[in-house]
Amino acid sequence: MTAAAQPLLQVRDLCIRFPTQDGAATVKAVDGISFDVMPGETFGVIGESGSGKTTLGRALVGLLPPTEGSILHDGVDPRSLGAGALRIHRRDYQIVFQDPHAALNPRQTVLTSVCEPLEIAGDLPRAERARRGLEALSRVGIAPEYAQRYPHMLSGGQKQRINIARALTVRPKLIVCDEVVAALDVSIRGDVLNLFASLQREFGLTYVFITHDLSVVAHVSDRIAVTYLGRLMELGPTLAVGAQPLHPYTEALMSADPLPLPSHLRSQRRRIVLQGEIPSPIDPPSGCRFRTRCPSAQPRCSTEAPAWRELRPAHWVACHFSTRDGPPARPPQQDAA
Ligand SMILES: Nc1ncnc2c1ncn2[C@@H]1O[C@H](COP(=O)(O)OP(=O)(O)O)[C@@H](O)[C@H]1O
Ligand code: SF4
Ligand SMILES: [Mg+2]
Repeated sequence: MTAAAQPLLQVRDLCIRFPTQDGAATVKAVDGISFDVMPGETFGVIGESGSGKTTLGRALVGLLPPTEGSILHDGVDPRSLGAGALRIHRRDYQIVFQDPHAALNPRQTVLTSVCEPLEIAGDLPRAERARRGLEALSRVGIAPEYAQRYPHMLSGGQKQRINIARALTVRPKLIVCDEVVAALDVSIRGDVLNLFASLQREFGLTYVFITHDLSVVAHVSDRIAVTYLGRLMELGPTLAVGAQPLHPYTEALMSADPLPLPSHLRSQRRRIVLQGEIPSPIDPPSGCRFRTRCPSAQPRCSTEAPAWRELRPAHWVACHFSTRDGPPARPPQQDAA
């Protein structure tokens, strides 16, 4: 009998808070999130701007310390490691950001940027670092003659490929991809997503794919987590979340921007228009975070935070009134034509 694989990421009761600029209040950017990511999986994270996705992504690779709770990497809490062990450990957990320009130093050549993580790791001779850098560039489709050029001489798509090469040189286990195609021209997004997919097959990579664009998440993810104001609303297999969501928030997101699913899985849902903006994470609503915009909210929703319930196999939701058949019924006047 083989033992079940250990999750590559174990996130437990994670909270990340920031002081506001004047120090008078606290931003609860991530406020009690738990999930596991398995080796080789692509874990999608979706939600509106301001729901804490980037903060979560930075914490997953150790760029932000948990205020409360924990993140285990392959069973290890990086906070338990000494400086030398931590430097080696961090190579395994990389992040690629949305803005391909901001992530590259304009005064460094492409090859210098790509080799930088290896230089920080500090255990390879210069010639070997250059060899690995050129190999990574070639793998992401950048020809060797670009190695000595500077970022301003390259297109957005080329720059993002270089950022991917930079993450690859250290041969990581996990890459957090934070809105990695959002800044790219629509015509090249598919190519870059296909590159991520082929790198995953080749290197056995695990991805956390953060995006507000549902077509991107459907293209790449095995499972999807839906975030709202620092919490998870729903988590489940991509097809199930896309075709038969359990949470009113997911239902509204999918009705506005359906996942591109096979036609037999697409339901004819009426568009649900969410009223208002996402509230401030400085003073989030009591009880259920979503209640100020939820068409199905009831008095209990303001006093009691919904439990995290597994209503279908491996499909979880945080709503008092969802059943395994779906979200609670909405009053009919909430539906827009
Ligand atoms: N360093 C910081 N200091 C203060 N507030 C922050 C900081 N980083 C993020 N926030 C706030 O935390 C919330 C979540 O931000 P973010 O994680 O960027 O969300 P998303 O990526 O989903 O748009 C936002 O209200 C944002 O303004
Ligand atoms: S708990 Fe209440 S407010 Fe929250 S999603 Fe469910 S019905 Fe809506
Ligand atoms: Mg973000």
